[in-house]
Amino acid sequence: MTEAPRKIIIDTDPGQDDAVAIMLALASPEVEVLGVVAVAGNVPLALTERNARIVCELSGKPETRVFAGCDRPMLRPLVTAEQVHGETGLDGPTLPEPTMALQSQHGVDFIIETLRREPMHSVTLCALGPLTNIATAFQRAPDIIPRIQQIVLMGGAYFELGNVTPVAEFNIYVDPHAADIVFKSGACIIVMPLDVTHKALTSPQRIAAFRDLKTEPGRLVAEWTDFFERFDKQKYGSDGAPLHDPCVIAWLIRPELFQGRFINVEIETQSELTLGMTVADWWRVTERPGNALFINSLDAEGFFALLTERIGRL
Ligand code: BDR
Ligand code: CA
Repeated sequence: MTEAPRKIIIDTDPGQDDAVAIMLALASPEVEVLGVVAVAGNVPLALTERNARIVCELSGKPETRVFAGCDRPMLRPLVTAEQVHGETGLDGPTLPEPTMALQSQHGVDFIIETLRREPMHSVTLCALGPLTNIATAFQRAPDIIPRIQQIVLMGGAYFELGNVTPVAEFNIYVDPHAADIVFKSGACIIVMPLDVTHKALTSPQRIAAFRDLKTEPGRLVAEWTDFFERFDKQKYGSDGAPLHDPCVIAWLIRPELFQGRFINVEIETQSELTLGMTVADWWRVTERPGNALFINSLDAEGFFALLTERIGRL
């Protein structure tokens, strides 16, 4: 007997790597996407919600419900990343205007209502951007926290430290106060930090495999990753670009590709110098109780094989 698909809400700020993650989810029968909620992050909300709709349409799934969530972090001004993702957030291929409508309900209300309606522990939140929507939902409706199955999020780093400041990763840095609320919430959290996403690196062969699918989604993924790659190659001298956000969805589908440790992770919200740092007790040197499964290793070949096969299904 095949298992029922896992119900997920994708919270996202597309972003080329977010786009690939959304496509992976929409292509995979193991998950059922209840909705996609946009948040301000890589680019402002007006672009992230638009990009989310474009990606659902280009995946051939215009029936997917897309919501707009928060347009700025809880306490701080918005920091964006056009230098990485381009002015639209999805620079690379020329994209059509979306035709599918944005849902009228606010994304935070959608998260709250869905978690209250669906059975206990049956909905997983997949967070691919700053945690503003999720933390706002927790503040407004703490009763939803024990109802969540898991939160699988891309954010933070330990050995890899930071990609936006010397010690902070972008998603956590943009809204550290939201991250603090989520990590202290008591929900079951799985973290995909830079330590693992920097192992999900594109290469000319891996990009060629997407192009060789000879489908529209395959071409788009190849062109997005091509665009995204130039930034990391120039900045870090790396061989390719890290496909950060698809790690979240891949973990749901093939967790055996990943390994990590259950540890304590706290978020720095006070210091100007280290704001947004994920203080991860990897060596368990404190008595602080574990609150997150912190992933650090990946079977990259298996990951890209999965991704290519799934994009080929769209
Ligand atoms: C994260 O920041 C964004 O730029 C990417 O989409 C990813 O979610 C990596 O630090
Ligand atoms: Ca993202």
